[in-house]
Amino acid sequence: MNFVQLDKIARKHGTPYYLMDGGMFLANIKAFQEAFKPRYNRLIVGYSFKTNYVPALCKIAKEAGCYAEVVSEMEYVLAKRLGFEHIIFNGPIKKESVLITALKDKAVINLDSGYELGTVLKYKSEYPEEEVSVGLRLNIDLTDENGVSKVQCGLRVGRFGFSQTMMKGIVSLLRDNGIKIVSLHGHTSSSDRAVANYNLIVLQMLQVCECLELNDLQYFDVGGGFFGAAAKGIDVSNKPKYENYANCILGACLSNEWFKQVQPAIVIEPGVSVVANVFSYVSKIFQVKEIAKQKFLTTDGTVFDIKPTLHSSNLPHIFYTKECCNKTCIANLVGSTCMEKDVILKEVEVPEGIEYGDYVKIDGVGAYTIVLTPTFINFISPIIGVMDNDDKTFIVRRRQTIDDVVALYTL
Ligand SMILES: Cc1ncc(COP(=O)(O)O)c(C=O)c1O
Repeated sequence: MNFVQLDKIARKHGTPYYLMDGGMFLANIKAFQEAFKPRYNRLIVGYSFKTNYVPALCKIAKEAGCYAEVVSEMEYVLAKRLGFEHIIFNGPIKKESVLITALKDKAVINLDSGYELGTVLKYKSEYPEEEVSVGLRLNIDLTDENGVSKVQCGLRVGRFGFSQTMMKGIVSLLRDNGIKIVSLHGHTSSSDRAVANYNLIVLQMLQVCECLELNDLQYFDVGGGFFGAAAKGIDVSNKPKYENYANCILGACLSNEWFKQVQPAIVIEPGVSVVANVFSYVSKIFQVKEIAKQKFLTTDGTVFDIKPTLHSSNLPHIFYTKECCNKTCIANLVGSTCMEKDVILKEVEVPEGIEYGDYVKIDGVGAYTIVLTPTFINFISPIIGVMDNDDKTFIVRRRQTIDDVVALYTL
């Protein structure tokens, strides 16, 4: 991308806007598949809708052979609307009506709560002739050899799934009622996305499979939480690669007798690791000002569009100026909302001559952005697809209008 290309899109669609590179998404998915397939062909990629459910993106995942991995009624019906035949239905609360639909659809359902068990048992008692199959989410203990819990946010224990102690009773209950267990789900979000976590996940899953003789298992689902798809500018020298995860998971699975006999499909549910570098965000510089020796560049974008969790790291970025400028200075890039915390980049190098009409592109904004963006002050931004080395563009999502804003309300 260069100034002229960004400016051309801006003139046509306004700013700010997202750029989506579908080719990059496909390449990421294929690379993840390739990391497993030479050693074990029975791999299923369940694309994590919650990370970014832009329909054009989900369709690419479908064409690449992915299942839809969904966690709510909204995501479930979206996956069906987009034509997914294979859906993995996860999440802590599956409301009765959508869970029954999923049972009828023969989706892969990973149960996570006693409430859901009740629905499934009731369904089976109403349709005793029907073959009912479900999966179970296992609560994983992600404590490393030094006694440190790797569960996201430094939590000592995660709250999802059934503990090993609960599993025994649940498996018996399901079996006694003629319900098959075809999937075991071990997704556990970690704070470090380390490869070693997958050894812990897989070994605990295998232990349950062996002890409870889950010999009908078709899906051995290790979940998501991987690192990958980092935007240019992020130091990945010490970060895991897809191959490292594949080798860890396959190493543990393929040396296990139960696994070798039953040979379930290995399911991975990548989100951030396949979509982070697929989206960028472009906004226009409106003013440059200095207050108490601090320089501020104000754009028409907002931090809420690219870091809704407001974490403090600066994302990879490039400034595009109309006039070539080699000298730099330090400035804060701030957003268009009237909140002090709307800081997009803190104390970064910017071209000294940057001015009204120049652009900034923030990279690596594909994960947990568009799906978390509130309508705050501005219309929701459009998404522009790019292809053929950025020369061809197309609309993936138009800009929100005032009609969209009022549509849900009674006026
Ligand atoms: C069940 C499940 N699968 C997959 C994912 C995707 O995780 P990530 O985006 O970290 O790969 C999540 C995210 O929380 C999840 O809860």
